[in-house]
Amino acid sequence: MSSDTIQSTTSTGSMSPDTTYDERDVISSREKDKAGRKAFQRLIRPISLALTIARILAFISAVLSVGPYIALVWLAEALLGQGGAQGSNEGEVKSALTLLIGLFLARLVVYLVALTVSHFADVKLRHLLQRQIAQRLSQAPLSWFSRTNSGQVRKAVQDDTAEIHAVVAHAPVDSTVAIVSPLALLAYVFYLNLMLGILAIITLPVYLGLMAFTMRGMGEKTAEMDTRLGHVSATMVEFVTGISVVKAFGQTGQAHARYDRATKDFHKFYLAWCGPMLRISAMSYVAISTSVLVLVNLGLGSLLIRSGHAQATDLIPTTIVALAIPQAFETLANMAWSLQIAGSAALRVQNILNIPQISQDAASADALPEGIKGQSVDFEDVSYSYGAHKAIDHVSLHLEAGTTTALIGPSGSGKTTLATLLARFSDPDEGCIRIGGVDLRHWPAEKLYRHVGFVLQDPQILSLSIRDNVALGKEDASDEEIWQALESAQVAEEIRALEHGLDTIYGVDTHLSGGQCQRLAIARALLLNTPVLILDEATAFADPESEAQIQQALSALVHNPQHPKTVLVIAHRPASVRHVDQVVIMENGKISAQGTPQEVSEQPLYMALWEGSAR
Ligand SMILES: Nc1ncnc2c1ncn2[C@@H]1O[C@H](COP(=O)(O)OP(=O)(O)OP(=O)(O)O)[C@@H](O)[C@H]1O
Ligand SMILES: [Mg+2]
Repeated sequence: MSSDTIQSTTSTGSMSPDTTYDERDVISSREKDKAGRKAFQRLIRPISLALTIARILAFISAVLSVGPYIALVWLAEALLGQGGAQGSNEGEVKSALTLLIGLFLARLVVYLVALTVSHFADVKLRHLLQRQIAQRLSQAPLSWFSRTNSGQVRKAVQDDTAEIHAVVAHAPVDSTVAIVSPLALLAYVFYLNLMLGILAIITLPVYLGLMAFTMRGMGEKTAEMDTRLGHVSATMVEFVTGISVVKAFGQTGQAHARYDRATKDFHKFYLAWCGPMLRISAMSYVAISTSVLVLVNLGLGSLLIRSGHAQATDLIPTTIVALAIPQAFETLANMAWSLQIAGSAALRVQNILNIPQISQDAASADALPEGIKGQSVDFEDVSYSYGAHKAIDHVSLHLEAGTTTALIGPSGSGKTTLATLLARFSDPDEGCIRIGGVDLRHWPAEKLYRHVGFVLQDPQILSLSIRDNVALGKEDASDEEIWQALESAQVAEEIRALEHGLDTIYGVDTHLSGGQCQRLAIARALLLNTPVLILDEATAFADPESEAQIQQALSALVHNPQHPKTVLVIAHRPASVRHVDQVVIMENGKISAQGTPQEVSEQPLYMALWEGSAR
C-alpha cells in the first residue's frame, strides 16, 4: 500500500501521496488548525447540553473553592485569640474547622459530579461516533477500502475517538475551574487586603508576557507537528509493509531513506520549534516558582504587616492563593494543547464521516428488488474515472444468463475496473449496470453479494479459522457443506492434513501457499454458489500442478449443471478463453472487439495478446 495514511488537510478528503513536507503543508497548517477547531465543535454538538451542565457545576465548585480560605482566616483569627474569651475561642475553632472541612468536601463533591456528567457525555459521544463511523464504513464503496490504509481507519476509530475523549471528559470542567477559581480567590484576597492582593499577582505579568511570547502561532505549529508526525508514520507503515520485497531486492537502504528523511525532518522541526521556546518558558516559570512566590508574598507581606498595612491572619490565605494561581495557568495551557490535538483528531474523524456513500434504496433493504428477471448482466453506456483518468469509456456489454464471457486486453485496459464495477466496488460515473434487469443501485447490499460472487487475484484469506474463512458469506453452513466445497476446490486433502483441520487459524497455526489460498477463495465462492460470478484469473502460479488444480477448482465453480451461472472471467491465458461463449477485448477503457472465440481469434490484438504465451 502507498503512503496514503496522511490525513487530508482539506475538507475534500483527498490524500497526499507525497511524503516530504513542503511550503504548501506549512500554509495549510493554519487552515488545518482552524478546520480542526470547527470539526471538533461540530462533533461535540450532540452532547452540548450535558457539557453546559458540567460547566455550570464546575463554576459552582470553583466559587466554592473560596470557602475553605474564608474558614482558614476565621480559624487563624480564632487561634490567634482575636475573638475574645477562651471558651468562645474553642467554639469558634471548632466551627471554623467544621466549615473548612465541610466546604472543602462540598466543593469536592460538586467537582466530582461535574466530572461524572462530562464523562457520561463523553461515553455517549464516543459510542455515537464509533457507531456513525461503523455505519459510514458499512456503506462506503468497496473501492474506498482498497485505496485507504487500514491503519488510517483504525486510528480514526480507536486513537482519534480516544483523543477527543480526553478533551471532552476533562476540558469543560477543568478549564472552567481553572478560569473561575483563581478569579474568585483573587476577588476574596482583594476583599481581604488590596495590597496583599497586589502582592499575590505581582509576578504574573512577567510569566504571562513570556508565555504569550512563546505561544505565538502555537495552533499552527501543533497542527504542523501533527501533519509531520503523519508523514513519519506513513513512511514507517510503507517501509514495514513492504519490508520483505525491499529486503529481497537489497533495497533496505533506499526504502529506509524515506523514513529516515521524514524522521530527520521532524526532528529538525521539533528542535527548531521547541528549543527557543523551552528557554523562554523556563525563565517564565521562575516568575511563578514556589520560592519566588513565597519570598514575595511572605517577605513583602511581613513588611506590610510591620508597617500596619495588613493583618497577620490575612497573610497565610493570600500566600496560599498566590501559590495556587500558577496551577490554573498550567491547567489552561495543557487544555489548549489537548484541544489542538483533539482538533486534528476531529478532522480525521470528520474525514471518515465524509467518505462517499453507496446509495441504498431504504424501501428495498430486506427484499429482493422488484421486477428482477433472470440473471443476465447489462453494462449500459458505462464510464468510470479515477480522478481525471478515464478507465472505462462508454462501455456497453450484455452477458446472457448462464453464459461465460472472457474479458481480455492489455495491462491497464480497464478489465479489473469493469469487473469490480459489477461487484459494486464503486458506482459508475455515467450509465448503469443491471443484473436481472435491475440497476445495481436498487439492490440491497446484502442481497447483491448473495447474487454476485467473486474470486479476485488477491484471495484475501483472513486470520480466522479455515471454517470461518470458507463460510464467510454463509455463516450457517454445515461442516459437511464446507468439506464438499473444499473437495470441489481441490484443497480438502491439504486441509485434512492440518493438525486442527477446519479449526486451523490461518496466519497463526499455519500459512498456506498462494495456490492454496486461491483454492480456498474458490471454495468460498463455491459455497455461496451465486448465480453471477466474477473471476480475476491468477497469473502468478509457476507450479503446473498447482495451476492444474486451480483450473479444476474453477471449472467446478463455473460449471454447475443445476445452477448455471453468468460468469465474467478476466482471462490471462488462451486455455481459459477457448471454451467460453463470448470473448470481449478491451483496449484503453473501450471494447475494441467482441464475439465468439472463433470470431475474435482473427483480431490482430487477440493474436498479439497471446504472443509468446505457451498455454
Ligand atoms: N485505484 C486506482 N487509482 C487510480 N488509477 C487506477 C486505479 N486502479 C486502476 N487504475 C488505472 O485505471 C486503468 C485500468 O486499470 P485496471 O486495473 O482496470 O486494468 P487491467 O486491465 O485490469 O490491467 P491488468 O491486466 O494489468 O490487471 C489503468 O490505467 C490504471 O492505471
Ligand atoms: Mg487487472
